[in-house]
Amino acid sequence: MCGIVGYVGGRDAVEILLNGLKRMEYRGYDSAGLATLRAGKLAQVKNTGKVQALADRVFREWSEEFREGMHIGIAHTRWATHGAPTDANAHPHLDKAGKIALVHNGIIENYAGLRKMLEAKGHVFLSETDSEVLAQLIGALYQGDLLQAVSAALLQVEGTFGIAVLDEAHPELLVAARRGSPLLIGLGEGESIIASDAAAVVSHTRNVIYLDDDDIAEVRAGTADIRNLHNVPVNRAVSHLDWDSGAAEKGGYEHFMLKEIFEQPDAMRNCLRGRLDDTLHTSVLTGLGLEPRDMAAIQRIVLVACGTSLHAAMVGKYFIEELAGIPVETEQAAEFRYRNPILGPHDLVLAISQSGETADTLAAVREAKCKGTLVAGMCNVVASTIARETGCGIYLHAGPEIGVASTKAFTCQVTALFLLALKLGRGRRLSRQQGAGLVATAKALPELVAATLKLNDKVAAVAETLASCRDCFYIGRGILHPVALEGALKIKEISYIHAEGYHAAELKHGPIALLEAAVPVVALAADVPGKDKMVSNIQECRARGAPVIAVVSEGDEATLTSLRPIVQAIIELPKAPLHAVPVLCVVALQLLAYHAARLRGCPIDQPRNLAKSVTVE
Ligand code: M6R
Repeated sequence: MCGIVGYVGGRDAVEILLNGLKRMEYRGYDSAGLATLRAGKLAQVKNTGKVQALADRVFREWSEEFREGMHIGIAHTRWATHGAPTDANAHPHLDKAGKIALVHNGIIENYAGLRKMLEAKGHVFLSETDSEVLAQLIGALYQGDLLQAVSAALLQVEGTFGIAVLDEAHPELLVAARRGSPLLIGLGEGESIIASDAAAVVSHTRNVIYLDDDDIAEVRAGTADIRNLHNVPVNRAVSHLDWDSGAAEKGGYEHFMLKEIFEQPDAMRNCLRGRLDDTLHTSVLTGLGLEPRDMAAIQRIVLVACGTSLHAAMVGKYFIEELAGIPVETEQAAEFRYRNPILGPHDLVLAISQSGETADTLAAVREAKCKGTLVAGMCNVVASTIARETGCGIYLHAGPEIGVASTKAFTCQVTALFLLALKLGRGRRLSRQQGAGLVATAKALPELVAATLKLNDKVAAVAETLASCRDCFYIGRGILHPVALEGALKIKEISYIHAEGYHAAELKHGPIALLEAAVPVVALAADVPGKDKMVSNIQECRARGAPVIAVVSEGDEATLTSLRPIVQAIIELPKAPLHAVPVLCVVALQLLAYHAARLRGCPIDQPRNLAKSVTVE
């Protein structure tokens, strides 16, 4: 995810900016850059690759003497969204005159229209980014007052931003603003640091101001004057940071996994942003590059993936088959190429991979392309190998996932698959009214996930039942069967408890022999078709003495009444529309796995024997 640092004060700006970028490296990025003022003129360096590569270049190209007097600047690490990771797309971006520099986190949704408008006025763009459009818009509106120009530009943009702006004409001033993308200002002795992440600030000062949405600030050495975009002063309290820098990287959470679990409402908002059409009641998936006619011609979909991404695919199969009536196969990517799959001209192969680098999924993409099939990708990492080789697809925009256990990528994959099902469904059998209902479900998802996260303390208490066991089962039916598989995968990879994910009906065809008092069962009885049968399956488990943790939907009194007397614990999910239930369920299971692993003292973010990205067969 992109990171911003800005500095104004009496010290060496370049050193502070580079250190700030290094502190944010954990977030993941693909390019980095900085801009500063030298003798009243803008100087900047930016390139793809690591912050160290940027630092090496800065120190090579700018001698100590050259760097003297550089006491103000802005810097950025970029995680590509619009345009590939290239030197040109890296930040900072400049206005037309090359006198104003900007770094930007977030997404400017109406950038295409703004770009056209500026091009018509003679602006030439050097990058493919939405951020450069904002830089040039600020320049176009500039009449000597930087704050005014930035406010005027921000009033024209739709989307999200955290920005820091530097202007040759104001060598003592930075302008910072935010909407939907975090930004804070650290106030030190005679110096100020703007950052998107407390990790870049804590080693300099603990006194910080968090900007609110639509705040804009004039930041000078040691001071910040904050207004709204209409130039009305606003008061923001100075908070005291009591994190050390390690904790700051994790946003105050004990582990990246927990941070990423809690980031899910925001990750899903980013995944949904600009993708819902309230006029046609459908979704907008421009990255697929398919016209409605191409969509209508698809007769079969094959979803290929590994691990957690495969479980997301299995949920997606339910969505697409139900909403669009198109047959879907899910396929373990490692098998795909070896079994010589039968593919036709009306098939779509969709490769789902958070990293976009998984060797087996990539091999499946190559095999499908070789057979002349339409192949698309669903990746989180922009310009990853699968994203490049498929050339079209749906980005998750979940932000970098650092914890080895995939969490926010899964919920965003399911969200994106829901959008795909909606798109395909509206092109076929869904009415406007049905489309409108599904759009409403998609919009409600982030808040429903936020409500589920409020169960954290309750789930932590329930996790004690699991933490001491050696073996356990996760069971589900229908759309919750893949969720049971994902819950079991999550707990085994981070807590090392042996967990089996099973279809609840399959249990009695063998594994039920293993059930006893020491083998708990996590039973997914939330409100989806098949939940009544789950109650019988739970009774079968209880009859063998297995303790049961049941996941149920709030307000489902019939199920709650049957289960309360027989199960050991109940996790009650917020009441939600059918298609949201698998997502809420998995969030509860992520927390369950996390707390079981924490209670067992496991190295949660880096479990033994596992890598974040599996690039070998
Ligand atoms: O990057 P990908 O989505 O292709 O990765 C696939 C699996 O390796 C991954 O989902 C793995 O199962 C996770 N560690 C599970 O949490």
